[in-house]
Amino acid sequence: MERPVTEWVNVTGDISIIARESGEVWFHTLSGAKEDMDPFATLMTGAGSKGSTVGLLDGAINLGFAGIEQSLARPEPTLVGYAVALVGAYHTSVDTPRNLRRAAGRFVELGRPEVAAYLEERAREETGHDRLALKDLRALGLPAERLVANYIPEGIKPLCKRFDDLCVEDYPIGCIGYSYCLERIAALKQKTDVEKVQAMCPDGIDATRFLRSHSSLGSEAAHVEETIEFVASLPANDRIRVVQETYESALIMAEGYNHELLKSEAEMLEELHQAIGEALPFRPDLSASRGETRSARTEMSEMMP
Ligand SMILES: [Fe+2]
Ligand SMILES: [Fe+2]
Repeated sequence: MERPVTEWVNVTGDISIIARESGEVWFHTLSGAKEDMDPFATLMTGAGSKGSTVGLLDGAINLGFAGIEQSLARPEPTLVGYAVALVGAYHTSVDTPRNLRRAAGRFVELGRPEVAAYLEERAREETGHDRLALKDLRALGLPAERLVANYIPEGIKPLCKRFDDLCVEDYPIGCIGYSYCLERIAALKQKTDVEKVQAMCPDGIDATRFLRSHSSLGSEAAHVEETIEFVASLPANDRIRVVQETYESALIMAEGYNHELLKSEAEMLEELHQAIGEALPFRPDLSASRGETRSARTEMSEMMP
């Protein structure tokens, strides 16, 4: 009988994630003294499996968010915050197809046609998603093109930079970890999250195209599934690198979105106003309350329509 697969990856300092094919996941602290006897002190070399690979990937996201879970800002969603989040969504999706194709080209050069084909397919799937965000902004009465041309929310910049950097690396496998992190968190969004945003929007206005497609209602859940399957099929070195980057991206994302969530309604209004050079077509919701307790990842998923 074949032994069930166990995978492990060291992600930070002395913390490794260990995952079994059965779905069990745990964090392991390497103890220097017993290194010779610690089977997880070496790099894994075996084949992956879907069950263990998803454990590593999601474990990396959980670990990346763990540090910020306590301090995370938790404002109630408002229309102004939603407009800012849509601008962020535009910027995190506008260069995605081009970046993925660039990484795919590199894998062709490296003689890895299966990785290139996967990235090409992802590039096709992501094409036009920036347009969804623009349409939503327009639906809210905002001059979408001018707004995104003049404004990148501060917390979104490091994320965009990370993806740009990953896709031009000599061995750009890390871009898969970044994409997984973003899509996995988007796929946490449920129908009720979309309905909540719809309820904030003026009557008869559909400004949730991007949100719907980047939630459990849209294609995001399928993208996540495809990625898990693909990563599980990769050689161990690639899986290690993808999981490590999923962790790094989760850290950057947690910090960036928290930065955005900490902004007051007035600050966001001012940023939007500066970018478009005129008053906003809608009033801020000044009754917005704060203090609800939900998980950091749910908060994040709401911040990134
Ligand atoms: Fe997308
Ligand atoms: Fe996607």
